[in-house]
Amino acid sequence: MKTGYNIAIDGPAGAGKSTIAKKIATKMGYIYVDTGAMYRAMALYLLRKRINPADTEQIAGMCQNADISIEYKDGEQVVLLDGENVNAYLRTEEVGNMASYSSAVPAVRSKLVELQQKLAAKEDVVMDGRDIGTVVLPDADVKVYLTASAATRARRRFLELQEKGEAADIEKIEQDIIDRDYRDMHREHSPLRQAEDAVLVDSSDLTIEEVVERIADLCR
Ligand code: DC
Repeated sequence: MKTGYNIAIDGPAGAGKSTIAKKIATKMGYIYVDTGAMYRAMALYLLRKRINPADTEQIAGMCQNADISIEYKDGEQVVLLDGENVNAYLRTEEVGNMASYSSAVPAVRSKLVELQQKLAAKEDVVMDGRDIGTVVLPDADVKVYLTASAATRARRRFLELQEKGEAADIEKIEQDIIDRDYRDMHREHSPLRQAEDAVLVDSSDLTIEEVVERIADLCR
C-alpha cells in the first residue's frame, strides 16, 4: 500500500536531476532518493570483484551477493555496501561507466527496484533515476522528465571537474555523455524514456531556481 507522496524525476546523465531533486526535497520536507547512487554502489562492488563489464552472466550472478542499503545522516543519503559507507567512491567516471553497463542487467535492476519501491511506499520521496516514472513508481503523484542538451551537460560537468582542480577534456566528456545516453536509452530492460504522463522540463536555458519553481508548481 502506497502511503507516501511520490515525486519521480527521470532524465539523462548530467541534466541536473540530483541538484534539483535535493532542493525540492528540502523545500517539501521529503526524503531525496538517489537511485543512480544505488546502481553506482553495485558497479563499485563489481569493479572491486574485477568483473568484466561485458560479462552480463557473471554480473547477474555476483550482484546477488552485494548487500546494498541506504540510510539518512543529517538529511544526506548514505549508501552502504556490505555495511560500509561508500558515498565517497561513487562519483568517478570509472564507476559511472561500469554502472551504465551493469544497470542494463535485469537481475541488478530487479534487486534495486525492490529496494526503491519499499522506500517510496512508506515515505514521502523525491526519487530520481531513469525508470522511476515508467517502472519503479508508475503511480507517482508528480512525474518530471528533466533533460538538457548534450553540449550543456558536458559544459556543466567540465566546470564541475575544473572547480575540483581535475583535468578534463570537454570534447571527451560530451562524447561520453552521448555514448552513455545511447546505452541508457537503447538497452532492452527499462530503457530511459519519458513516461506518457510525465512533464518535460528542458533545463538548458533555465537556472536551478527556475527549474525548482516549475516542479514545485506541479506539486501544488
Ligand atoms: O544518474 P547516475 O549517473 O548516477 O546513474 C548511474 C548509472 O545508473 C547510469 O548509467 C544509469 C543507471 N541508472 C539506471 O539505470 N536506473 C536508475 N533508476 C538510475 C540510474
